[in-house]
Amino acid sequence: MSEPLHFNLFTMNSVEHVSPGTWTIPGDQSHRYTDREYWTEVARTAERGGLDAIFFADVRGIYDVYGDSRDPAIRRAIQTPSNAPQALVPAMAEVTDHVGFAITRSTSYTHPYQLARELSTLDHVTDGRIAFNIVTSYLESAAENLGLEGRVDHDERYDRADEFMAVCYRLWEGSWEDDAVVRDREAGTYTDPEKVSAIDFEGEYFSVPGPHGCEPSPQRTPVLYQAGSSDRGREFAARNAEAVFVSQPTKAATRDYVTDMRERAASHGRDPDSLKFFPGIVVITGESEAIAREKYETYTEHVSVEGTLSLLSGFLDMDLSELEADQPIEHIETEAIQGAMNAFTTNDEREWTVGEAARFAGLGSTSPVIVGSPEQVADELESWREEVGVDGFNLKEVTRPGTLRNFVDLVVPVLRERGLIRESYERETLRENVLGRRRLADEHPGRQM
Ligand SMILES: Cc1cc2nc3c(=O)[nH]c(=O)nc-3n(C[C@H](O)[C@H](O)[C@H](O)COP(=O)(O)O)c2cc1C
Repeated sequence: MSEPLHFNLFTMNSVEHVSPGTWTIPGDQSHRYTDREYWTEVARTAERGGLDAIFFADVRGIYDVYGDSRDPAIRRAIQTPSNAPQALVPAMAEVTDHVGFAITRSTSYTHPYQLARELSTLDHVTDGRIAFNIVTSYLESAAENLGLEGRVDHDERYDRADEFMAVCYRLWEGSWEDDAVVRDREAGTYTDPEKVSAIDFEGEYFSVPGPHGCEPSPQRTPVLYQAGSSDRGREFAARNAEAVFVSQPTKAATRDYVTDMRERAASHGRDPDSLKFFPGIVVITGESEAIAREKYETYTEHVSVEGTLSLLSGFLDMDLSELEADQPIEHIETEAIQGAMNAFTTNDEREWTVGEAARFAGLGSTSPVIVGSPEQVADELESWREEVGVDGFNLKEVTRPGTLRNFVDLVVPVLRERGLIRESYERETLRENVLGRRRLADEHPGRQM
């Protein structure tokens, strides 16, 4: 039997996430993102399928780079409208016992003291099922909405993120001793003040005396995800991430990324094998290959080209309306998602034209698409582990909740026959289920503060 693979559902508390236009497919339920029962059903289904977590993307601002206008994004529901993901967690946790919740929060637009408190609270109310997807954000419109003059430069956003995490680690790991809470009714002592310390953090961006306002939650630090793929982003991920979300269109590019990241992790004094890799993937399946191919054709017909170009223009910070469909995407050092730019330029031997990128990215943006019977899908997923060395996948949605249901009802039984996904959850917390340990590894910078 092989080691089981890990799976997350990659979704967003919005109509559309990374498959623009697919909300128009007859029967699609994407518009129910405002309905609590939609999400509780998603949580139940994910847990039935043995998934690690429901992984929520989140952005601030509106995609307004394409044609220098926000109208295409608003018309096509490109990640707008969207609600805050963290607010869904208590409802989803209430109807499940094991599945985790990965919450994307930006280190550019929140304060570490506030965020540490919010995530500790969520980790308490879910009994230790929270992950933090650390992002630095990329849309200019987000910065403006938050009263800033503009977006901070790409690499400086990561400098701030490093300091942000240093504050969080001290609050989560270093402020309260394990036995600080004594709950001694006779003495009237709830917490022993000797065991709660200030953190006295003074940095370039933040000044936080502490101590943390929350008592230690089951995981203390939530499971840490990161997706940086620029040089600076990789350095940040190699130092801080426990699991990395890879977004490269091919196996070869993903393999190079994994090798590079393991080397970087080792250079930070971490065990390179302790870092887990999760490529984004789109799975389109049906009872047979023919049914899956028919679905693929239908989905493709519903993709909004305008919506996809609006999304990609935001990722790249490049107005693709200024280029003809047959013109190549030329590499620039973008201030937005350098990793998305590289995916279509330096990380791939082929030259991508705007038209090809729009067709490819319509289903899942920068991730590969697998179309086939459940057995074919399982073969392909297995080959990713054998050929590329990945640990699992973030499943990108096309239809809602169809992508998840098809995966759980059709592919999971085949994976279970092959021992490639858990039958049940053996452990309690998300970190135990994903990484086999309850706390951050000893050599992780969060334990070194
Ligand atoms: C797979 C993937 C998922 C991402 N998800 C989000 C997200 O949900 N919200 C967000 O603000 N940024 C997201 N980002 C962008 C990152 O926050 C970051 O701004 C971006 O990756 C720039 O870093 P890079 O140039 O190192 O790739 C994502 C990036 C990637 C590659």
